[in-house]
Amino acid sequence: MSSNGTLISMKDITKVYQSGKIYVEALRGVSLDIKRGEFVAIIGPSGSGKSTLMNIMGCLDMPSAGSYDLDGHPVAEMNINQLSSIRNQKIGFIFQNFNLLPYATTFENVELPLIFAGKPGVVRHKKAMECLERVGLADWAEHKPTELSGGQMQRVAIARSLANDPDIILADEPTGNLDSKSGSEIIDIFEELNATGRSVVTITHDMTIAARCHRIIKIKDGLIESETRNGSNKSAIS
Ligand SMILES: Nc1ncnc2c1ncn2[C@@H]1O[C@H](COP(=O)(O)OP(=O)(O)OP(=O)(O)O)[C@@H](O)[C@H]1O
Ligand SMILES: [Mg+2]
Repeated sequence: MSSNGTLISMKDITKVYQSGKIYVEALRGVSLDIKRGEFVAIIGPSGSGKSTLMNIMGCLDMPSAGSYDLDGHPVAEMNINQLSSIRNQKIGFIFQNFNLLPYATTFENVELPLIFAGKPGVVRHKKAMECLERVGLADWAEHKPTELSGGQMQRVAIARSLANDPDIILADEPTGNLDSKSGSEIIDIFEELNATGRSVVTITHDMTIAARCHRIIKIKDGLIESETRNGSNKSAIS
């Protein structure tokens, strides 16, 4: 861990997408630090650059310019193997549509990152079951995702994201396909994970969910428009 506890440090990040002759400036200079143990919501209109920012945070995509240090390591200097291993070890991803393998059991879905990490079978079994227990789904280990409700599927996705004990959970609209009760249960789990020291960053359109996070970052037109902390109305333009 970096000495001052900063997990994510971004400076002047820009991202330009090119399709044919058209250039889209999705991020236009974002600077952002996220410390270990923070619980952050990213909000903003559709197309404002939220997913682009999260994909860069998660090393799923590279910025066009600017610098990004993850846990003190400059991401730009990592090769493909280092990037995939840092993703697997440090980051847990949650997506709106769950991204579970439909033909694999819930156990096998949760086991997958442990296979990628090269863990032996006994360790994989113990850890995958621990993670399923943590989200209240140990009894569903042998079921397929199609037999589960949306809320349960998202809990399996959370269990999978926890398999390698990530420092940070990145969630892109994790409650977007859920009813409000199931969505609220997902945020309950995020709160518990945060209380045990993990950083959680979640994109959301739902202001009741954003209000439960400790810090709200509002993105507009590829820039941070404002930040709010702990439900206070103090807006600090960064
Ligand atoms: N792969 C891509 N190729 C080209 N343009 C893209 C690509 N991904 C995103 N964009 C564009 O970049 C801008 C930001 O997109 P992004 O997906 O980050 O927005 P968002 O804030 O996540 O929106 P939403 O709330 O709808 O998910 C948009 O104009 C979008 O069309
Ligand atoms: Mg998005």
